[in-house]
Amino acid sequence: MDITYDSRTRVFRLDTGNMTYAMGVVDDEGFLGHLYLGPGVGNDDLTYLSRAIEYPGLPSKNNRDRCSFLDFFPHEYPGEGVGDFRSPAVRVTKDGISPGIQPLYKGYRIIKGKKRLEGMPSVFGDEKDSETLEIEMSDETAGVKLFLDYTIFEGINAVVRSVRAQNTGDTPVTLNRIMSFSADMDRPGETRLMTLNGSWGRERAKQIIPVGTGFAGVSSVRGVSSHQSHPFLGLLSEGADESQGEVIGLNFIYSGNFLAQVEKGQFGTLRVQMGIHPMGFYEKLQPGESFQSPEAVLVWSDSGIGGMTRTFHELYRNHLIRSPWLHRERPVLINNWEATFFDFDLEKLLKIARRASSEGAELLVMDDGWFGRRNSDNSSLGDWYVNEEKLPGGVKRLSEELAAIGMKLGIWFEPEMVSPDSDLYRAHPDWAFSIDGRKPCMAREQYVLDLTRKEVRDYIFDMISKVLDSADVAYVKWDMNRPLTDVGTHAADAGDGGLFHRFVLGVYDLQERLITRYPDLLLENCSSGGGRFDPGMLFYSPQIWTSDNTDAIDRLSIQEGTAMIYPLSTMGAHVSVSPSQSCGRKTPMVTRGHVALAGTFGYELDMDRLPGEDSAQIRDQIALYHRYGELVREGDYYRIESWQDGSMCDCYMVVSKDKTQALMTWVQVLAHTNLKSRRVRIPGLDPDREYRIEVADPREGNDGNGNRVSPNELNCMSGFLGKTLTGATLSGAGILMPRLSGDFRSLLISFDSRG
Ligand code: DGJ
Repeated sequence: MDITYDSRTRVFRLDTGNMTYAMGVVDDEGFLGHLYLGPGVGNDDLTYLSRAIEYPGLPSKNNRDRCSFLDFFPHEYPGEGVGDFRSPAVRVTKDGISPGIQPLYKGYRIIKGKKRLEGMPSVFGDEKDSETLEIEMSDETAGVKLFLDYTIFEGINAVVRSVRAQNTGDTPVTLNRIMSFSADMDRPGETRLMTLNGSWGRERAKQIIPVGTGFAGVSSVRGVSSHQSHPFLGLLSEGADESQGEVIGLNFIYSGNFLAQVEKGQFGTLRVQMGIHPMGFYEKLQPGESFQSPEAVLVWSDSGIGGMTRTFHELYRNHLIRSPWLHRERPVLINNWEATFFDFDLEKLLKIARRASSEGAELLVMDDGWFGRRNSDNSSLGDWYVNEEKLPGGVKRLSEELAAIGMKLGIWFEPEMVSPDSDLYRAHPDWAFSIDGRKPCMAREQYVLDLTRKEVRDYIFDMISKVLDSADVAYVKWDMNRPLTDVGTHAADAGDGGLFHRFVLGVYDLQERLITRYPDLLLENCSSGGGRFDPGMLFYSPQIWTSDNTDAIDRLSIQEGTAMIYPLSTMGAHVSVSPSQSCGRKTPMVTRGHVALAGTFGYELDMDRLPGEDSAQIRDQIALYHRYGELVREGDYYRIESWQDGSMCDCYMVVSKDKTQALMTWVQVLAHTNLKSRRVRIPGLDPDREYRIEVADPREGNDGNGNRVSPNELNCMSGFLGKTLTGATLSGAGILMPRLSGDFRSLLISFDSRG
């Protein structure tokens, strides 16, 4: 890991060992060019990559065609209105009029370690494992300085970028656009773009399209990162696939509106940008004031999409997620939502908890409906005091009753919301976002609280703290069930800036206060399922509810898309009933358990109401979670086959860091007639080690009717089950996976070389 500046060539290099990111200062004016991103290159003069000697040449030599130069130059951080017609990285106005902006290089600093961003999520690192470059750019006419920050980490092929804009003039300046990442990349060959798109219950479905001339990308203006699009872009070089080829991934450490786009220009270069969505964003800066953008992460991989994934996992586990729970085994939880919805009381909860505890569950999550007069979704958000009719003795009694059976308590909140039918709204109707003269748009019969106001945040925090202080609460599920609309404030001291961004900062402020006051609290974020699963939220909570869709087969692609970027330990994954309440599919209990093992494990059902052959499996499932929990939480994740890519199977595996142990999950989604076994190569193992191969689940192959797999089904594996093969044979020749009878069947296979 090394950041260098060569004063002779005026080239900056960020080297991580096998990746180089290079920029160069060009011409006397100080244009900053993006020179290179790719495999580590020699210590050569890279200035030729700016192509500044190509026609029309530098403005100092040919100012006549300055515009052609600016519209062709590979900018690192382009301005607006002065000769480059591609999307700007930054735009400012004064009294509504753009003075134009062209950031030019002024100076730099290289510092050990990584600064933390104030009031926002940011990666962290110390002086030994990280290094930061700060480049100062300025436009004197606009009266704006920009400080571009780049951090790299020991052993990780990633660059984390952010930008601070400062008003250095003597009149106010309004910032209308500030991308956290921008670079004009010259990628040889065709590039494909990967995005993760979706909807409620179908979050983060992978899409790969060719990048043609013009724009491609994703964005959200819903106030949250959203179910529909995800703050991620993947750029796949020609020939890149799961295990080979160059892949670039960009991810935004932010939980609100975002824009992520690729603009392929007239000369075939790609302007790649990621930042806060300019719609609804502005920030008026008085002389001397600054605005700090959120961080964007760039990951580079020369080992395909899988390499990109593992680099993100590594970066986030070591430099983003702060929770003390990150490396701890999370309690097996039982959540009452899908079991009862709003229809519960103390007795019902305790009955669910007692049964779950007897099976090995460790924590009861009391979901929506315990507060105010909330018996459906049409009231009481904001009234965070317990409904004693449902819970006599309050949360305290519930937690004590749970403690008596050895269980911990978790509680659901939706702190950002208010129901029109609530004491809070009746007392403070002006605390909800609304625009004067416009009836606010309802969603799930609720409004969004104006968390840009400190008094609103203080009130909500106080209410939540009273509940948490009243009892022994180990876990909080922080939900958020509607997008932002009618974003107008009634605050007298609102200041001059876009409310969408300030709202996000308000959420961050509340979550920071929560984890500071309750440092051991296990916080799980959630937004109508996985509507705000982003790295910003992971700075506060080590896990996020992945989707309200708990159908095991739909979950294969939802979890695959989520794990594209985020470690398995961050994905809430629960076993629920069959037929699935979301899509009606019938799935064997074995498969439901296997698929849920890929995340933070739990149940979303009433065990008493399960068919006997299903509930008889719970103990074994929980035992599997305890056995493989650490491996799943800490190991390296490999995708092998993908159902959403058209394969009839879905297969992935986790390998321990020391490569002594691995667990493979195989789901045969649809059965077909008269097929033979399928050969599967096993990635990620140590070629020189001998691995003992076993079926990992004692109930392996259960066909959903409580019957064990017929021995015939495993016949094709008899040559290696219970025996050893070397990692080299496993990665080259692979193993044979059986064709099971029936749809939605699964197998867990373990590889163990620990002797
Ligand atoms: C949406 C969440 O995703 C569910 O798990 C549940 O908590 C409901 N909200 C409760 O309203």
